[in-house]
Order: sequence, then C-alpha cells, then structure tokens
Amino acid sequence: MRITVIGCGYLGATHATAMAELGHEVLGMEIDPDKRAALSEGQVPMYEPHLAEMLRKNVDSGALRFTDSYAETAAFGDLHFVCVGTPQAAESLAADVSQVENAISGLAPHLDRPALVVGKSTVPVGTAERMSARLAELAPAGGEAMLAWNPEFLREGFAVQDTLHPDRIVIGVQDGRAEKLLRDFYAPMIDDGAPVVITDYATAELVKVAANAFLATKISFINAMAEVCEATGADVVDLADAIGYDERIGRRFLNAGIGFGGGCLPKDIRAFVHRAGELGVEDAMTFLRHVDDVNQRQRERVVHIAKAMVGGDLSGARIGVWGAAFKPDSDDVRDSPALWISGQLHLSGARVRVYDPRASTTAAQSFPTLTYADSAIEACRDADLVLHLTEWPEFLEITPADLEGVVSRPVLFDGRNVLDLDSWRSAGWTTRALGRR
Ligand code: UDX
Repeated sequence: MRITVIGCGYLGATHATAMAELGHEVLGMEIDPDKRAALSEGQVPMYEPHLAEMLRKNVDSGALRFTDSYAETAAFGDLHFVCVGTPQAAESLAADVSQVENAISGLAPHLDRPALVVGKSTVPVGTAERMSARLAELAPAGGEAMLAWNPEFLREGFAVQDTLHPDRIVIGVQDGRAEKLLRDFYAPMIDDGAPVVITDYATAELVKVAANAFLATKISFINAMAEVCEATGADVVDLADAIGYDERIGRRFLNAGIGFGGGCLPKDIRAFVHRAGELGVEDAMTFLRHVDDVNQRQRERVVHIAKAMVGGDLSGARIGVWGAAFKPDSDDVRDSPALWISGQLHLSGARVRVYDPRASTTAAQSFPTLTYADSAIEACRDADLVLHLTEWPEFLEITPADLEGVVSRPVLFDGRNVLDLDSWRSAGWTTRALGRR
C-alpha cells in the first residue's frame, strides 16, 4: 500500500521504516528541515538498534522518502499515520497536543478523496473525537475523511521489533470501514498472532496512558518496597523475585533502582492526572501523583546517599558516573534519572565525570557543564565514589581489578541493582545499593 507518516521523530521514523520494510511504499512528512535532510540520507537522528540499517536500505531502494508538503502527502496515499510528539506543556502538567492539531489542520484541506487518518501519538482522552470533527470540517472529502486511533506501545531500544511484532493492536474507530482498512493493513501482524482490540476512540486513547500508568506504578511500587527493605534489612531483589513468581504479579518491571525516566512514562502519567482533573475524576487518579513522587524521591535519595558515601560533603568530591541515558540501548536523556542525579551532584559542588556508551553527546547538549569521559574506566579516574546509574551491559563486565590504581577510594553505589556487589566487597570495596543488604 502507499501510506504516509506525519511526524518522523522516534515513533514516526520507526513506523515509516518498519512499514517500508514490510513492503509498503512510504512517504514521511517531516517539517524539521534538519531531521528531514538526515532521514533522506538514511541517517537516524537517534540511537536505536537496527533502525539505521533498515532506514538506509529502504531509502536506497526508494520504498521510503520524505517531504515537507501536506499537498504531496495527501496526494501520495489514502492511509495517513499521525506520529507527531505530544510533549509536556511548558506551563502545566498537561500534554501539548498542538503538533497533532497542526498535523490534522495541515493535512485535512488537501484530502479531496476518501482517506483514513490514523492517530498513533499518545494523547489526552477526548482528542480523537475533536480531531475527527476537525477533519470532517476541513477536508473537502467531508465525512469520507475518516479518523482512527491506533496507539503505539513501542519501547526505545526495541522500537523496530515492537513495531514489527506488536503484542497487541488497539484500534479505536467510529465505524466498520476504518476497522476493515486497518485490519487489512495489519494483516501480516494479525496473521502472526497479534491480538486485536477494536474499540471506541476514548478507550483506545486511554489504553495507552493506562498501560504506561500501570508500568510506572509497578516501578514505584517496588521502589517504595526498596525503601522499606532498607529500613528493615530486607533485600528488594529477593522480594521482587519471590513476588514475581506469582503469575498474577509477574517479575517484569519490578526492578528497583533510581526510577523511571524517558520521553513517555513521566510525562504520560502527569498528563493523565491533569486530564483526570479536567474530567472531574482527579480523586481516582491521586495515586498517580504518589507514583510520580516516589519516582522523584528515588533520585533525591541517591543524591543524599552519594553525599554520605563521600563523607558528608559533596563540595570538591570526585564522582565517576556510569550512565547518562534513561535506560540502556538508548541515547535518550529526556527526564533521565541518571543525568538528573549527576546534575544535582555537580550543582552541589562535586566534580562529576560521566561516561555513557551512547548518550554522552545528547547528555552534553542538555547538561554541558558536566565533564564527559571517553570510557567507564576514565570516568573513575581519582574518584572518591563510583555511581552505576544506567545498566549498560558493558558496566557488568567491569571488575574490581579494572579499577585498581584508578580510583582514589574504592566506593561503589549500584543504582540499578544489577552489579555483583559481593565480588566488589570481597575485593575490598565499600558498596551500597537501593533496598539491598
Ligand atoms: C515506555 C513503555 O514501556 C512503552 O510501552 C511506551 O510505548 C513508551 O514508554 P520506554 O520509555 O522506551 O517505553 O521505556 P521503558 O522500557 O518502559 O522504561 C522506562 C523507564 O523505567 C526507564 O527509565 C527504565 O530504566 C525504568 N525501569 C523499567 C525501572 O526503573 N525498572 C523496571 O523494572 C523497568
């Protein structure tokens, strides 16, 4: 099929590339000239495993190209995926949906034959209904310009795999025509076993934020447990293993540590609380404020712990940090707990050297005053304290012998609860983690 993808950031670039890979002809609409130029040359503006190779291949074959013209987008095909960003608004906790509004307003006047616009962006419930009305009003095709809402659940680091092999396909529609078109479009994935949920707009929109709210709640739950474990001498990893064996609970997303970050979970739960307030059901969502508070407190606790580990005075303390990205296999530092902690330590007078295998450049853009090292070992040169904050596999490989003669004091904090602290302790290191013995 000939399809278009409006907004070629994380979600859009991945969707456009993966759909071209599946054999569709794809036109990506991207208004940012730098992003568009990079994509047209087959370059991905972020680090995402497998995406760059796949993008280049499909750009080279002509299956995927990019434009900045809505007229060309409307003319190219009849299935248009809206993948623009919905960041947190500058002055409130709400999601800023102006990019979605602009995409619909930009495309609609060019839709002069039947078309299906498919929203994939994460939006506050009620947006699809509004956008559907706007589409019908602005499109020369009127009611033949239909809208469906089809949220995307991809994880950074697994974006290509999640797009090609979704664990479910959720489609919010107003009638059976849009459903049929999308069932046909997603046939390879449906045949592959992906469950399909056909529902209304509001439910489809809510599914996405509810899923992220649940994941965030799971993480904050285990982080709250970590604090209790610390107060009682219990071990949160054993606890998570034990409760995780209960299939009703499950072990995934029960890794206690410095908390969640990234471009989705934090802003999505805040936007959800905000929207609940507008809908008059704020009380029902109060727990999500606590989820956010627990998450924020984890970061603050690490700053206090680091202070204690360097002897009570951060001023002039030398701290080596492993990790800046909000999670491994990503160069994304948006709302990254690792970078937040490094920044706070720096602002408190510590001399902080950060190493991240992929995110040093993006981290330096958002926090230029930190020092960035070229290797994990160099980050620890003369350090009084080493902080492990993003669980890249290469940090697991580092042994106490690697840091012999490098650090000034053998003191290690594991903010992700994955290092083998026994081996570090037996090599004479002082160690600490969150919620661990
Ligand atoms: C998330 C959702 O998982 C995805 O479905 C949605 O489409 C977008 O938001 P992503 O932002 O890529 O994906 O990150 P995710 O893998 O969910 O991790 C989020 C954060 O939680 C990371 O900072 C991670 O380190 C943290 N985390 C995750 C934990 O602290 N503990 C865990 O057990 C799991």
